[in-house]
Amino acid sequence: MIRLKTEEQIDGIRKSCKMLSAMYRELIPFVKPGVETKELDKWAQDWIRHAGGKPACLGYGSKKNPFPAALCISINNTVIHGIPSARKIAEGDLVSIDCCIELDGFISDQAVTVEAGKVSQAAHALNKVTRECLYKGIEAVKPGDRLLQIARAVSAHAQSFGYGVVYQYCGHGVGLAMHEDPSVPNVPHGSNPRMMAGMVIAIEPMINLGLGDVELLDDDWTVVTADDTLSAHWEHTVAIFKDHAEILTDDVKG
Ligand code: MF3
Ligand code: CO
Repeated sequence: MIRLKTEEQIDGIRKSCKMLSAMYRELIPFVKPGVETKELDKWAQDWIRHAGGKPACLGYGSKKNPFPAALCISINNTVIHGIPSARKIAEGDLVSIDCCIELDGFISDQAVTVEAGKVSQAAHALNKVTRECLYKGIEAVKPGDRLLQIARAVSAHAQSFGYGVVYQYCGHGVGLAMHEDPSVPNVPHGSNPRMMAGMVIAIEPMINLGLGDVELLDDDWTVVTADDTLSAHWEHTVAIFKDHAEILTDDVKG
């Protein structure tokens, strides 16, 4: 069931989104060779709590295997849901960071991919095109049009560069919970509702240098490319109004 949000609810989600983007603006300068990913996570948890929010990924999921951090940090061949650890970021790493904040009950969701030091040309191009895919997807958000227009725009752009588009994981409705209907795929499949005023969705292209296929590791969280190639991920939370769409999270530099 798609939960349409009132203007007041969207105001609350927007505040949560602005807090999340402010966190990213301060975090990204620390994403450098030599830093442990769990140090970044600790910093983010403290920042979010000080700002009056809650790290919504921390403890998310099943009781048996809750996600143990505020940030998903997914390096190189890791696509999404990488668990912060003692691993140090290395020169040339492609570091995707995904975070959700809860503020006064409202959830925001944003992901960025940061280039640590100087990355290969291939990594830089993949990252640039993935970010472009996000904006192509957002341009396809038009009240009254069908949702899979987003997937068509994202996949056409990625495929024109020969990249693989992850199809086993999708964007989603967001705002009152972290994962709501509808599913927002990056490759057209599944239900195709009309985009309507009151919908709030997370659009999140996950694009691979090789094929789009991914695998889940034994920790039941970490998702990696099946062919071990690099992956990038960019995400915004977007609200749909009667005659326009609004990106609620701010543009941040990767
Ligand atoms: N931002 C992620 C998403 O878009 C959040 C999932 S990580 C989790 O789905 F640990 F919270 F599940
Ligand atoms: Co998301």
